[in-house]
Amino acid sequence: MKPTIYLVYISLSGNTESFVKRLKGFFQFQTDWQVEPVHVKDLVKQDIPFYQLDAPFVAFLPTYLEGGNGVDNGDVEILTNPLGDFIAFGDNAELCLGVVGSGNRNFNNQYCLTAKQYAERFGFPVIDNFELRGLQNDIERIGHKIIALMEEKA
Ligand SMILES: Cc1cc2nc3c(=O)[nH]c(=O)nc-3n(C[C@H](O)[C@H](O)[C@H](O)COP(=O)(O)O)c2cc1C
Repeated sequence: MKPTIYLVYISLSGNTESFVKRLKGFFQFQTDWQVEPVHVKDLVKQDIPFYQLDAPFVAFLPTYLEGGNGVDNGDVEILTNPLGDFIAFGDNAELCLGVVGSGNRNFNNQYCLTAKQYAERFGFPVIDNFELRGLQNDIERIGHKIIALMEEKA
């Protein structure tokens, strides 16, 4: 049977969604996996209750913080919280191979800060990060890291 992997994400302005779609294409080329994107924003919008996943997943988390600088303030997540709620649902966190953060380096110390907070909160690793929509080399680098994590798990 083909291994299944879920790509669980939230995307407010489309960058993370674009990355996940291209990463799915990479996995379809490189692996025999069944790749299932789950957009948590759509679940919320369509009033679909959160549910227990039945296979490993990677979380993709853009950074939205409420202002400040990420040093003595500005570490409070806004807008992306439903992704954390989905991971916290049932035993989902145990199936998470790790989180891929995204953001914009102009935010300095706040760059990808929420992904680090999720790693701490749930006890899984930050696999990597990318800026905005991510470039082809980000897709390949992160794709290969996820393949290695799936092989470790198998
Ligand atoms: C209101 C707002 C706050 C943001 N805060 C941060 C931040 O604190 N750190 C960071 O790295 N990027 C920050 N960003 C940049 C976004 O994380 C980045 O544009 C990301 O690619 C958005 O992903 P999405 O299009 O999938 O929603 C912020 C963007 C907006 C619009």
